[in-house]
Amino acid sequence: MGQVVRFSVSLESDLLSAFDRLIVARGYANRSEAIRDGIRRQLISREWEEGDEVAGVITLLYDHHRPGLAEEITEIQHQAIPQVISTTHIHLDGSNCLEFIAVKGEGRAIQSLADKLQSLKGVKHEEIAATSTGKKIV
Ligand code: NI
Repeated sequence: MGQVVRFSVSLESDLLSAFDRLIVARGYANRSEAIRDGIRRQLISREWEEGDEVAGVITLLYDHHRPGLAEEITEIQHQAIPQVISTTHIHLDGSNCLEFIAVKGEGRAIQSLADKLQSLKGVKHEEIAATSTGKKIV
């Protein structure tokens, strides 16, 4: 971790008041910590856009009764190695499966994998929790 640097920011008083309310609602200790988090979010978003190695979790909710769907989802993941690191399958109830796919790799490749899974008939919802490998984020 580098040296801590102080800098000043100019912004409208209404915007600062809204930010302070957000800090209280989210439970931040101070403005600096909230600003650090905001900067990290922007940097991670940039990593995904720029083709850096990133990490995340693809969440899938799908119909357990759709013939062949589970096998198709598994096959797509086999084809997506090395991006797919690990998969957890949860039988939510008699009809619904929830799957968490931990991924690491180039952002566009992960997005493409998520798109492929989302477009399958019987997949009810897909979402990516996009994060970083942590290499560039302190
Ligand atoms: Ni299941």
